[in-house]
Amino acid sequence: TPSPVTVTVTGAGGQIGYALLFRIASGQLLGPGVPIRLRLLEIPQGLKAAEGAALELQDGAFPLLAGVEVTDAASAAFDGVNVAILVGARPRGPGMERGDLLAANGGIFAPQGAAINAGAADDVRIAVVGNPANTNALIASANAPDIPVERFTALTRLDHNRALGQLAAALAVSPGEIRDVTIWGNHSATQFPDVAHATVAGRPVVDALAERLGDAATVRAWITDQFIPRVAKRGAEIIEVRGSSSVASAASATIDHVHDWITGTPHGWTSVALSSDGSYGVPEGLISSFPVRSVDGVWQIVQGLEIDEFSRARIDASVTELTEERDAVLTLGLI
Ligand code: NAI
Repeated sequence: TPSPVTVTVTGAGGQIGYALLFRIASGQLLGPGVPIRLRLLEIPQGLKAAEGAALELQDGAFPLLAGVEVTDAASAAFDGVNVAILVGARPRGPGMERGDLLAANGGIFAPQGAAINAGAADDVRIAVVGNPANTNALIASANAPDIPVERFTALTRLDHNRALGQLAAALAVSPGEIRDVTIWGNHSATQFPDVAHATVAGRPVVDALAERLGDAATVRAWITDQFIPRVAKRGAEIIEVRGSSSVASAASATIDHVHDWITGTPHGWTSVALSSDGSYGVPEGLISSFPVRSVDGVWQIVQGLEIDEFSRARIDASVTELTEERDAVLTLGLI
């Protein structure tokens, strides 16, 4: 048997942690046959919840689970880590300005970046889930100077999956038949879910939509007035309907993100927020969502896509927001 892969989950005592840990332990994160050593990082108030989850993990008798450790010390949690899933974050409280939110999260992600830098395994991969995810990833990366920037990613896979779900419903197909949807920009309401290059069963999604909805103008209106806002505001819709935030779908998207990073993307591309290399006019170094394929365990931005005026304006708007967030954390001395 191969030696266990160390997976650290922060905020492990929280809601997403509770949904995520059991999927990881079952083998869905790393694939069949790969033993896992779990490290659960919490703040002192969250330790009991994480310890309770650890007891239940034991009761799951997962054949691949080689061990579970619970700690409130980042240095212990990230020592030798191969996969770091950063879920724990500071939510926006009442009356909290963006600057306050960024500062509070800087207080979490700067020291965690430093602890990852000090202790992580050479092959470490980092997925930031806690919001504001893109900028939290930027802060962590800036505080981990010895770790290549491309190892720091933020989750936009939930947005990507939501877009697939909406298209599948509109076209009455299963999500697996749709390929090459893209989420651009920030994991926020400014994100741009883009179907311009998407296909269903091999033909353009926009053509398939036109067949069902009418003409091209109707499709454009549906995309602009229904699809894009519904995907971008889906989190609020879930809270309204469920009475609680999206948890299981967020955990599921996190599994997809890490799984595809390690094992590959054989069926078209997916969406990941990662450090820009300047592709598509996104300023270098911003953690922004792109269309990506995983090749030999490395995310590669899909190149050469034609970006029309409609898409350009929307990508630019989300990137402007990311630039403002970066400037704010720069001013705060967090990066
Ligand atoms: P939650 O409040 O149930 O759990 C968060 C946990 O993190 C708590 O147990 C808390 O004690 C812990 N925590 C706080 N600071 C920590 C630190 N410094 N180190 C370790 N643990 C710490 O929240 P939930 O529902 O699990 O969501 C977690 C985060 O994920 C939130 O920021 C939420 O906005 C974000 N999220 C992101 C999504 C995405 O698509 N990127 C989707 C859904 C949620």
